[in-house]
Amino acid sequence: MITFENVSKAFEGVKAIDDLSLTITQGEFTVVIGASGSGKSSALKMINRLLEHDSGRILFAGREIRSFKPEELRRRMGYAIQSIGLFPHWTVEQNIATVPNLLQWPRSRTRDRVTELMETLQLPPEVYRHRYPHQLSGGQQQRVGVARALAGDPDMLLMDEPFGALDPVTRAALQQEIARIHDASGKTIVLVTHDIDEALRLADRIVVLDRGRVVQVGSPREILSSPANDFVADFVGRSDVGVKLLGLYTVAACLRPGDVAPGPPIASAASLREALSAFVARQVDRIPVVDEQGRPVGVIALADLLRLRL
Ligand SMILES: Nc1ncnc2c1ncn2[C@@H]1O[C@H](COP(=O)(O)OP(=O)(O)OP(=O)(O)O)[C@@H](O)[C@H]1O
Ligand SMILES: [Mg+2]
Repeated sequence: MITFENVSKAFEGVKAIDDLSLTITQGEFTVVIGASGSGKSSALKMINRLLEHDSGRILFAGREIRSFKPEELRRRMGYAIQSIGLFPHWTVEQNIATVPNLLQWPRSRTRDRVTELMETLQLPPEVYRHRYPHQLSGGQQQRVGVARALAGDPDMLLMDEPFGALDPVTRAALQQEIARIHDASGKTIVLVTHDIDEALRLADRIVVLDRGRVVQVGSPREILSSPANDFVADFVGRSDVGVKLLGLYTVAACLRPGDVAPGPPIASAASLREALSAFVARQVDRIPVVDEQGRPVGVIALADLLRLRL
C-alpha cells in the first residue's frame, strides 16, 4: 500500500531519514518503534506529505505520493499526531467532524458518527460534545485526536504515539479498541510508539528504526526471538524476552481440554504471561480455564507451559 524506496530526508544537513526502504502492506498493522530522535515521526509525516522527502520515492497505491494533492492524501489517511493538534476554537464535536464536514456528509450522519466514536473512545457525548480542547485533560484530548482520525472512515490510519498521555488502564482499553477496529475493518494501520509492549501487543509487523535507518522488520515473535543486532536486543529487553514471548500467546494454546482443577479460573483468552504470573502468585501448578461465557473448558498446567516451544 505504501512503499518507501531509498528515501532520505535531512534537516540542516543532518540526515533524519537515511536511505529508508520499506513496504507497508495493505491491511496490516505495522508498528514503528525506535529511540527518541530515530526518525519515526518524520517517516510517518512523509506518508501524508506533511514533510517532503529529499530523495528516493514514496509510492501510495502504486503512484508517487507527490502526484497526489496533499488534501486528498489527508482525506484518505486518518492522522493522529503526537502533540494532539486539535483546533482550539472548535468544540470536540467540530474537531471530530473535520473530515466528514470536508466530505459534506449529511448532518445527521456526521452527528451519529461523532456520537459513535465518542462512545467507542470512552468520552460520554452528553458531557464532552460541546467542550473545547482546553477544557479537557491531555488524555481526553488525545482520544478526541484518535476519534478525529477515524471519523471519515479512511483507507489508512497513521498514528503517532496516540496513547502517550494515558494511564495504563485507559491505554490498555484503547489498545484493545484499536486492535478490534483493525480486526473488524482490515484497515491499514501504521502506529508509532517507543513502548515495546504496545508494539508487541498490536503489531502484525514491527519496524525498528535507529538513526533514520531500518534495522529490522519482523513479526513480534521474530523480533523477540531473533533480534537482528545488539541494538534491537537491548531495545526489546534482553532480560525479559521469555515473559514477553509468553505474552504473545493465549492460554488456549496450552490447554488440557476437559481436565478439572480447584481454585479461581483464568480466561482462555488471557495471555500465557498472565498465566505464569498466576502460577507464581498462587503457588499452584494447575489452574482451571473458562471460555468467554465463563464455562469451564479445561486446565492449564505449569509443566506444559515450560515445555512449550515458542
Ligand atoms: N522540523 C525539523 N527541523 C529540524 N530538525 C528536525 C525537524 N523535525 C525533526 N528533526 C530532527 O530529525 C530527527 C528525527 O526526528 P523525529 O521527530 O522523526 O524523531 P522521533 O523518532 O519521532 O522521536 P520521538 O520518539 O522523540 O518522537 C531528530 O534528530 C530531530 O531533531
Ligand atoms: Mg516522534
